[in-house]
Amino acid sequence: MSRNLIKEGMKKVVGRWRKKEYSRFPILEGHPIAKQHGEQVVKSVGNLKRGYYTVGGLPSAHKVLTQRAEAVAEVVAAAGYPGVLDALQKIKGEVDSSLTYRRSCREGICGSCAMNINGVNTVACLKPIDTDTSRPMTITPLPHLFVIKDLVVDLSDFYQQYKSIEPWLKTRNPPPDGKEYRQTPEERKKLDGLYECILCACCSASCPSYWWNPEEFLGPAALINTYRWISDSRDDFADERLQAITEDERRLYRCRAIGNCTACCPKSLRPSEAIRKMKTKHLTGIPVETLSNNMKTSH
Ligand code: SF4
Ligand code: SF4
Ligand code: FES
Repeated sequence: MSRNLIKEGMKKVVGRWRKKEYSRFPILEGHPIAKQHGEQVVKSVGNLKRGYYTVGGLPSAHKVLTQRAEAVAEVVAAAGYPGVLDALQKIKGEVDSSLTYRRSCREGICGSCAMNINGVNTVACLKPIDTDTSRPMTITPLPHLFVIKDLVVDLSDFYQQYKSIEPWLKTRNPPPDGKEYRQTPEERKKLDGLYECILCACCSASCPSYWWNPEEFLGPAALINTYRWISDSRDDFADERLQAITEDERRLYRCRAIGNCTACCPKSLRPSEAIRKMKTKHLTGIPVETLSNNMKTSH
Protein backbone atom coordinates (compact mmCIF):
# COMPACT_ATOMS: atom_id res chain seq x y z
CA MET A 1 0.00 0.00 0.00
CA SER A 2 2.62 2.56 1.09
CA ARG A 3 4.83 1.40 -1.80
CA ASN A 4 2.04 2.20 -4.29
CA LEU A 5 1.50 5.61 -2.75
CA ILE A 6 5.20 6.39 -3.06
CA LYS A 7 5.19 5.19 -6.69
CA GLU A 8 2.28 7.51 -7.43
CA GLY A 9 4.05 10.37 -5.67
CA MET A 10 7.22 9.75 -7.66
CA LYS A 11 5.28 9.79 -10.93
CA LYS A 12 3.78 13.14 -10.02
CA VAL A 13 7.16 14.63 -9.11
CA VAL A 14 8.78 13.37 -12.32
CA GLY A 15 5.78 14.60 -14.34
CA ARG A 16 6.12 18.07 -12.91
CA TRP A 17 9.83 18.13 -13.51
CA ARG A 18 9.26 17.41 -17.17
CA LYS A 19 7.21 20.63 -17.53
CA LYS A 20 9.45 23.36 -18.78
CA GLU A 21 8.63 25.91 -16.07
CA TYR A 22 9.69 23.49 -13.32
CA SER A 23 12.58 21.89 -15.11
CA ARG A 24 15.03 22.93 -12.40
CA PHE A 25 13.16 22.79 -9.10
CA PRO A 26 10.15 20.48 -9.23
CA ILE A 27 9.76 20.37 -5.47
CA LEU A 28 9.37 24.14 -5.23
CA GLU A 29 6.17 24.40 -7.21
CA GLY A 30 3.66 26.80 -5.68
CA HIS A 31 5.86 27.91 -2.80
CA PRO A 32 6.99 31.52 -3.28
CA ILE A 33 9.69 31.64 -0.61
CA ALA A 34 11.13 28.31 -1.67
CA LYS A 35 11.01 29.41 -5.30
CA GLN A 36 12.89 32.59 -4.47
CA HIS A 37 15.44 30.52 -2.55
CA GLY A 38 15.81 28.19 -5.53
CA GLU A 39 16.34 31.07 -7.92
CA GLN A 40 19.11 32.40 -5.69
CA VAL A 41 20.83 29.03 -5.73
CA VAL A 42 20.58 28.84 -9.51
CA LYS A 43 22.10 32.30 -9.77
CA SER A 44 24.92 31.53 -7.36
CA VAL A 45 25.95 28.27 -9.01
CA GLY A 46 26.14 29.97 -12.40
CA ASN A 47 29.64 31.29 -11.70
CA LEU A 48 31.05 28.19 -10.06
CA LYS A 49 33.83 25.96 -11.25
CA ARG A 50 33.42 22.21 -11.17
CA GLY A 51 33.79 21.07 -7.60
CA TYR A 52 34.82 17.94 -5.81
CA TYR A 53 31.54 16.65 -4.52
CA THR A 54 28.54 15.37 -6.33
CA VAL A 55 25.33 14.65 -4.52
CA GLY A 56 22.79 12.68 -6.48
CA GLY A 57 19.25 11.56 -5.74
CA LEU A 58 16.30 10.89 -8.00
CA PRO A 59 17.29 11.14 -11.65
CA SER A 60 15.09 14.21 -11.89
CA ALA A 61 16.80 15.87 -8.95
CA HIS A 62 20.31 14.78 -9.80
CA LYS A 63 21.31 17.88 -11.72
CA VAL A 64 19.97 20.28 -9.12
CA LEU A 65 21.68 18.44 -6.30
CA THR A 66 24.92 18.28 -8.22
CA GLN A 67 24.89 22.02 -8.60
CA ARG A 68 24.16 22.54 -4.91
CA ALA A 69 27.04 20.35 -3.88
CA GLU A 70 29.47 21.88 -6.30
CA ALA A 71 28.67 25.26 -4.84
CA VAL A 72 30.56 24.45 -1.67
CA ALA A 73 33.01 21.89 -2.91
CA GLU A 74 36.10 24.00 -2.60
CA VAL A 75 35.02 25.50 0.71
CA VAL A 76 34.56 22.07 2.22
CA ALA A 77 37.84 20.76 0.91
CA ALA A 78 39.75 23.81 2.12
CA ALA A 79 38.20 23.70 5.58
CA GLY A 80 39.54 20.21 6.15
CA TYR A 81 36.30 18.78 7.41
CA PRO A 82 36.92 15.23 8.56
CA GLY A 83 33.88 13.29 7.40
CA VAL A 84 31.39 13.25 4.57
CA LEU A 85 28.61 14.01 7.05
CA ASP A 86 30.45 17.18 8.06
CA ALA A 87 30.60 18.19 4.41
CA LEU A 88 26.87 17.65 4.08
CA GLN A 89 26.28 19.69 7.23
CA LYS A 90 28.37 22.45 5.71
CA ILE A 91 26.35 22.35 2.51
CA LYS A 92 23.10 22.40 4.44
CA GLY A 93 24.20 25.13 6.82
CA GLU A 94 25.83 27.50 4.37
CA VAL A 95 24.57 26.82 0.88
CA ASP A 96 21.22 25.11 0.73
CA SER A 97 19.18 24.41 3.83
CA SER A 98 16.77 22.28 1.81
CA LEU A 99 19.34 19.54 1.21
CA THR A 100 17.84 16.58 3.04
CA TYR A 101 19.47 13.58 4.72
CA ARG A 102 19.16 11.72 8.00
CA ARG A 103 21.69 12.00 10.78
CA SER A 104 21.76 11.95 14.53
CA CYS A 105 24.73 10.66 16.52
CA ARG A 106 27.71 11.48 14.26
CA GLU A 107 29.47 8.54 15.92
CA GLY A 108 28.45 5.51 13.87
CA ILE A 109 25.94 4.47 16.51
CA CYS A 110 22.47 5.43 15.30
CA GLY A 111 22.78 4.16 11.71
CA SER A 112 20.69 6.99 10.30
CA CYS A 113 23.24 8.59 7.94
CA ALA A 114 23.61 5.53 5.69
CA MET A 115 24.11 6.40 2.02
CA ASN A 116 26.17 5.35 -0.95
CA ILE A 117 29.53 7.10 -1.11
CA ASN A 118 31.81 6.50 -4.07
CA GLY A 119 29.77 3.43 -4.97
CA VAL A 120 29.86 1.78 -1.53
CA ASN A 121 27.08 1.79 1.06
CA THR A 122 28.32 3.17 4.35
CA VAL A 123 27.49 5.65 7.10
CA ALA A 124 28.56 9.19 6.17
CA CYS A 125 29.80 10.10 9.65
CA LEU A 126 32.46 7.36 9.63
CA LYS A 127 33.55 7.95 6.04
CA PRO A 128 36.49 10.37 5.74
CA ILE A 129 36.45 12.92 2.96
CA ASP A 130 38.59 11.76 0.07
CA THR A 131 41.91 13.57 0.31
CA ASP A 132 42.44 13.15 -3.43
CA THR A 133 40.49 16.19 -4.60
CA SER A 134 41.37 15.71 -8.26
CA ARG A 135 38.25 13.62 -8.74
CA PRO A 136 34.70 14.04 -7.46
CA MET A 137 33.24 12.07 -4.57
CA THR A 138 29.88 10.68 -5.55
CA ILE A 139 27.16 10.60 -2.93
CA THR A 140 23.82 8.99 -3.71
CA PRO A 141 20.97 7.50 -1.64
CA LEU A 142 21.10 3.84 -0.64
CA PRO A 143 20.41 1.93 -3.85
CA HIS A 144 17.22 0.08 -4.79
CA LEU A 145 15.07 1.77 -2.18
CA PHE A 146 12.41 4.38 -2.86
CA VAL A 147 13.79 7.87 -2.41
CA ILE A 148 11.63 10.22 -0.37
CA LYS A 149 13.83 13.26 -0.87
CA ASP A 150 17.50 13.78 -1.73
CA LEU A 151 19.38 11.23 0.43
CA VAL A 152 16.40 10.05 2.48
CA VAL A 153 15.04 6.64 1.51
CA ASP A 154 11.90 4.83 2.55
CA LEU A 155 12.83 2.18 5.13
CA SER A 156 9.28 1.14 6.01
CA ASP A 157 9.67 -2.38 4.61
CA PHE A 158 13.12 -2.72 6.14
CA TYR A 159 11.77 -1.94 9.61
CA GLN A 160 8.73 -4.14 9.05
CA GLN A 161 11.03 -7.05 8.23
CA TYR A 162 13.08 -6.34 11.33
CA LYS A 163 9.92 -6.27 13.42
CA SER A 164 8.80 -9.58 11.89
CA ILE A 165 11.72 -11.46 13.45
CA GLU A 166 10.56 -10.39 16.93
CA PRO A 167 13.88 -8.86 18.00
CA TRP A 168 13.49 -9.14 21.72
CA LEU A 169 14.20 -11.70 24.44
CA LYS A 170 11.54 -14.43 24.56
CA THR A 171 11.52 -16.84 27.47
CA ARG A 172 9.27 -19.60 28.78
CA ASN A 173 9.97 -19.18 32.48
CA PRO A 174 10.62 -16.28 34.86
CA PRO A 175 14.27 -15.66 35.83
CA PRO A 176 15.57 -18.14 38.44
CA ASP A 177 16.23 -15.40 40.99
CA GLY A 178 13.03 -13.58 40.08
CA LYS A 179 15.01 -10.56 38.90
CA GLU A 180 17.14 -11.09 35.83
CA TYR A 181 18.32 -13.63 33.25
CA ARG A 182 22.03 -14.16 33.65
CA GLN A 183 24.75 -15.25 31.27
CA THR A 184 28.25 -16.53 31.79
CA PRO A 185 31.03 -14.48 30.14
CA GLU A 186 31.35 -17.27 27.56
CA GLU A 187 27.66 -17.14 26.70
CA ARG A 188 27.78 -13.37 26.43
CA LYS A 189 30.81 -13.59 24.16
CA LYS A 190 28.75 -15.46 21.57
CA LEU A 191 26.83 -12.26 20.90
CA ASP A 192 29.95 -10.35 19.88
CA GLY A 193 29.86 -9.57 16.19
CA LEU A 194 26.06 -9.72 16.24
CA TYR A 195 24.67 -7.31 18.83
CA GLU A 196 26.60 -4.34 17.41
CA CYS A 197 24.28 -4.02 14.41
CA ILE A 198 23.04 -0.43 14.14
CA LEU A 199 20.30 -1.18 11.58
CA CYS A 200 21.79 1.21 9.06
CA ALA A 201 20.49 -0.93 6.14
CA CYS A 202 23.80 -0.68 4.24
CA CYS A 203 23.98 -4.46 3.95
CA SER A 204 20.42 -5.05 2.77
CA ALA A 205 20.65 -2.20 0.26
CA SER A 206 23.84 -3.74 -1.16
CA CYS A 207 22.39 -7.22 -1.58
CA PRO A 208 21.35 -8.21 -5.14
CA SER A 209 18.94 -10.81 -3.78
CA TYR A 210 17.27 -8.14 -1.67
CA TRP A 211 17.05 -5.82 -4.69
CA TRP A 212 15.11 -8.41 -6.68
CA ASN A 213 13.08 -9.86 -3.78
CA PRO A 214 12.66 -6.97 -1.36
CA GLU A 215 9.46 -8.34 0.14
CA GLU A 216 10.04 -12.10 0.14
CA PHE A 217 13.70 -12.16 1.25
CA LEU A 218 14.26 -10.81 4.76
CA GLY A 219 17.64 -9.35 3.84
CA PRO A 220 20.96 -9.60 5.69
CA ALA A 221 20.13 -7.01 8.39
CA ALA A 222 17.02 -8.78 9.64
CA LEU A 223 18.78 -12.14 9.32
CA ILE A 224 21.89 -11.25 11.31
CA ASN A 225 19.56 -10.00 14.02
CA THR A 226 17.63 -13.27 13.90
CA TYR A 227 20.89 -15.09 14.49
CA ARG A 228 21.71 -12.69 17.32
CA TRP A 229 18.60 -13.92 19.19
CA ILE A 230 19.10 -17.55 18.17
CA SER A 231 22.59 -17.31 19.69
CA ASP A 232 21.41 -15.77 22.95
CA SER A 233 21.64 -18.32 25.80
CA ARG A 234 18.78 -16.59 27.62
CA ASP A 235 16.32 -16.96 24.74
CA ASP A 236 14.09 -20.06 24.72
CA PHE A 237 12.78 -19.77 21.16
CA ALA A 238 15.77 -20.52 18.92
CA ASP A 239 13.99 -23.38 17.10
CA GLU A 240 10.85 -21.36 16.56
CA ARG A 241 12.87 -18.43 15.26
CA LEU A 242 14.61 -20.70 12.77
CA GLN A 243 11.32 -22.20 11.71
CA ALA A 244 9.83 -18.74 11.20
CA ILE A 245 12.53 -17.74 8.70
CA THR A 246 12.41 -21.05 6.81
CA GLU A 247 8.72 -21.94 6.54
CA ASP A 248 8.76 -19.71 3.47
CA GLU A 249 12.18 -20.66 2.10
CA ARG A 250 12.56 -17.32 0.34
CA ARG A 251 12.99 -15.51 3.66
CA LEU A 252 16.38 -17.15 4.22
CA TYR A 253 17.39 -19.12 1.14
CA ARG A 254 17.21 -16.23 -1.32
CA CYS A 255 20.67 -15.42 0.04
CA ARG A 256 23.15 -16.59 -2.59
CA ALA A 257 26.17 -16.20 -0.33
CA ILE A 258 27.90 -13.59 -2.46
CA GLY A 259 28.91 -11.52 0.55
CA ASN A 260 28.22 -7.93 -0.56
CA CYS A 261 26.57 -7.43 2.84
CA THR A 262 29.70 -8.38 4.76
CA ALA A 263 31.93 -6.37 2.44
CA CYS A 264 30.13 -3.10 3.12
CA CYS A 265 29.00 -3.30 6.77
CA PRO A 266 30.36 -0.13 8.43
CA LYS A 267 30.51 -1.97 11.78
CA SER A 268 32.58 -4.81 10.27
CA LEU A 269 29.90 -7.38 11.03
CA ARG A 270 29.45 -10.51 8.94
CA PRO A 271 25.79 -11.01 8.02
CA SER A 272 26.67 -13.56 5.33
CA GLU A 273 28.35 -15.75 7.94
CA ALA A 274 25.34 -15.55 10.25
CA ILE A 275 23.11 -16.54 7.34
CA ARG A 276 25.36 -19.45 6.44
CA LYS A 277 25.25 -20.72 10.02
CA MET A 278 21.48 -20.58 10.08
CA LYS A 279 21.24 -22.44 6.77
CA THR A 280 23.57 -25.13 8.10
CA LYS A 281 21.64 -25.35 11.33
CA HIS A 282 18.39 -25.67 9.41
CA LEU A 283 19.70 -28.31 7.00
CA THR A 284 21.61 -30.43 9.51
CA GLY A 285 19.63 -29.90 12.67
CA ILE A 286 22.83 -29.47 14.63
CA PRO A 287 22.16 -27.50 17.82
CA VAL A 288 23.28 -23.90 17.65
CA GLU A 289 25.74 -24.37 20.50
CA THR A 290 27.58 -27.20 18.76
CA LEU A 291 27.36 -25.42 15.47
CA SER A 292 28.94 -22.27 16.85
CA ASN A 293 31.82 -24.25 18.33
CA ASN A 294 32.40 -26.11 15.05
CA MET A 295 32.37 -22.87 13.09
CA LYS A 296 34.86 -21.33 15.47
CA THR A 297 37.35 -24.13 15.00
CA SER A 298 36.87 -24.27 11.24
CA HIS A 299 37.96 -20.63 10.71
S1 SF4 B 1 24.73 -5.74 9.69
FE1 SF4 B 1 26.07 -3.94 9.41
S2 SF4 B 1 25.41 -3.05 7.47
FE2 SF4 B 1 23.78 -4.43 8.13
S3 SF4 B 1 22.33 -3.12 9.23
FE3 SF4 B 1 23.75 -4.03 10.75
S4 SF4 B 1 25.39 -2.52 10.98
FE4 SF4 B 1 24.29 -1.98 9.10
S1 SF4 C 1 25.65 -13.02 1.17
FE1 SF4 C 1 23.44 -13.25 0.97
S2 SF4 C 1 22.58 -11.56 2.14
FE2 SF4 C 1 24.76 -11.05 1.77
S3 SF4 C 1 24.77 -9.85 -0.12
FE3 SF4 C 1 25.05 -11.96 -0.73
S4 SF4 C 1 22.99 -12.75 -1.17
FE4 SF4 C 1 22.76 -10.84 0.02
S1 FES D 1 24.91 9.97 12.30
FE1 FES D 1 24.54 8.17 13.47
S2 FES D 1 25.57 6.62 12.34
FE2 FES D 1 26.04 8.44 11.24
